[in-house]
Amino acid sequence: MAEARVIDGKAIAVSLRQRVAAAASQLRETQRLTPALATVLVGDNPASQSYIRAKGTACTAGGLASFDLRLPGDVSEAALISEIGRLNIDERVDGILVQLPLPPQIDAQRVIAAIDPEKDVDGFHPINVGRLWTGIPGLVPCTPQGCLLLLRAVRPDLSGAAAVVLGRSNIVGRPIAALLLAADCTVTMVHSRTRDPALISSHADIVVASIGRPGLVGANWIKPGAIVIDVGINAVPGPDGRSRIVGDVDFPAASQIASAITPVPGGVGPMTIACLLRNTLVAACRRRGLTNPLPL
Ligand code: GUN
Repeated sequence: MAEARVIDGKAIAVSLRQRVAAAASQLRETQRLTPALATVLVGDNPASQSYIRAKGTACTAGGLASFDLRLPGDVSEAALISEIGRLNIDERVDGILVQLPLPPQIDAQRVIAAIDPEKDVDGFHPINVGRLWTGIPGLVPCTPQGCLLLLRAVRPDLSGAAAVVLGRSNIVGRPIAALLLAADCTVTMVHSRTRDPALISSHADIVVASIGRPGLVGANWIKPGAIVIDVGINAVPGPDGRSRIVGDVDFPAASQIASAITPVPGGVGPMTIACLLRNTLVAACRRRGLTNPLPL
C-alpha cells in the first residue's frame, strides 16, 4: 500500500478563514455589521489562556470583533451566569464562548444552559445539541465541524461509509457522530467499555479518534485504505526530554495503511478556530435573519 495522503488541516483552515474574512467584509459593507465574539475565561489555566489568546488574535485577523472577559478562578457559579446574562442581552455580541474546563465549584452544564442558544458558538447548549441530532439548522460544535470539513476534502460524498468514532465526549465524539449520521454514514461509537475496539475500528472506512490516549490507535485498528481523522492533543516527553504534542493515532504506523490521515499538529487543531470564526459569522447572520453566506 502506498503511503497515506496527509490531510493539510493548516491549509484547509487558512482557506476557510479567508472565506470568513471575505464574508465579514461583505457584511460590513452591506449591513454595517461586524460580527463579534465574546470569550469568557475563568481562572488562569495556562493552556486555556493560550487558547483564548489564539481565538482573539484569529478574530482580529479575520475582521471580526472580540471581547475578552476574565473572571477570577474563585468566581461563583451565580456570578458567572450573571455575566453570561449580560452578554446575552448585549446587542454588540454575536457569539459567546466560555472556555472549558471550569473550576470545580462551577457546574459547566448549568453555565452552558445559561447561554442564549443563538449566541452559542460552541454549539454545546442542549437546544443546539437537539437541533444537531434532529436535523434542524443550528450552531454546530467547532471541532466536529472541522473534522467533517477535513473528511469532505478527501471524500466529498460520505454516503454509505462505515464510520467509527472513538470516544463519546460531548465536545467531540457525540457531535461528530451526529454529523456523520446526517451525512449518511453508518456510525459506530467505540468507548472505554467497548469490547475489542481495535477489531471494530479495523472494519471502518472512516476512523475519528478522540480519546486522549497518545498513539493508542495502531496499525491493527486501521482498515487498508481508510480515512483517519486524529483529534487527539496529547503532551508526551520527547527524545530530548522536552514535551511534544502527539495525537491518539500512531501516525507512522497508521499512515502505512490508511489512504488519508490528519497529522498532529497541523490537522484538526487549526480547523477548530477557523470553524469558531465561521460560527460567529453564522450566529451574526442568524440573529438578524440574514442568509448564511457560508453554509456547511
Ligand atoms: N475546551 C476544550 N475544547 C473546548 C471547546 O471546543 N470549547 C470550549 N469552550 N472550551 C474547550
